[in-house]
Amino acid sequence: MNVIWSQYIQGIKTLYYSRKLRFDDMFSEQYKHLFELDSSKNIKILEIGCGPGALAEALCRWYPQADITAIDRDSEFIRFAKEHEKKVAFLESDATNLPFEDHTFDVTISNTVSEHIEPSKFYGEQYRVLKPGGVCLVLSSCQGINIIPSCIALSDFEKQFWEKVSQYDNSMNRYAVCKYPMSEAELPLTMEAYGFQKIKTGFATIDLTPDHPRFSLDMAHDMINANRYTEIEAIESALHIAPNQITIEETEKMKRLTNVKFDKRIKQYDRGEKQWDTNVSIIMVVRGIK
Ligand SMILES: C[S@@+](CC[C@H](N)C(=O)[O-])C[C@H]1O[C@@H](n2cnc3c(N)ncnc32)[C@H](O)[C@@H]1O
Repeated sequence: MNVIWSQYIQGIKTLYYSRKLRFDDMFSEQYKHLFELDSSKNIKILEIGCGPGALAEALCRWYPQADITAIDRDSEFIRFAKEHEKKVAFLESDATNLPFEDHTFDVTISNTVSEHIEPSKFYGEQYRVLKPGGVCLVLSSCQGINIIPSCIALSDFEKQFWEKVSQYDNSMNRYAVCKYPMSEAELPLTMEAYGFQKIKTGFATIDLTPDHPRFSLDMAHDMINANRYTEIEAIESALHIAPNQITIEETEKMKRLTNVKFDKRIKQYDRGEKQWDTNVSIIMVVRGIK
């Protein structure tokens, strides 16, 4: 049982709810334009490092004829994903040693995974399992814009909590998180170095601004709550990261403070008190052909 990512790095709700927004149908045309896949065909798609499965769910909606398999090393993500989407074959597996025959898939796809896996394995395994002419899609998140509302700012108690945790947090090194970062120029060159041809790059802009009238009340609440889940799960992870340095009472107090702040943000939204906090992600899509 491997729960390293879900326990120490990013929890289920953090990934699932942020990615559900990132891959909302509102943004589907941007992605479909960059993916250039034939939605009328019964293509075989493999998602690498699927986490709790929000991208795989979106692929099901956008390519209803496709046959989708999705793998991740984290047992908790795969358990959650299997419960939520029955049309995808979710599998606990390692991207560096895929349990598939050569030339099995028409498409491989990943979102924010390439920076965590040694490139010769990450690209080599996808190249091996793709059919000749198959498409490799690598999605990564570029520098975006993140403006937080004043009611979410950290209090002194919260700042001290995070300072204490950061002193003991070596999980990034220990679990090779972001061990292979690449610039927007290096990514396509690397894909090419591992044999992919006809490389194309493109960018989707995912603008999540709760106060913008184009978003429904439900979606605005989802944006605020996605940030709430990220903070709450980070506090819970702190207990695993620094178990002897922080107490359960401290984490409970942190969670209470966090919930009060996000409840306040929801109330402001409901009363129409605009804050114009925003989270704009720029998602780079690199597309290569085997
Ligand atoms: C930043 S998360 C992204 C998850 C998902 N793609 C998403 O956007 O929600 C990185 C994911 O890669 C997975 N991962 C890291 N190394 C892996 C490996 N060698 N094999 C399979 N999955 C791996 C982690 O378990 C984690 O789910």
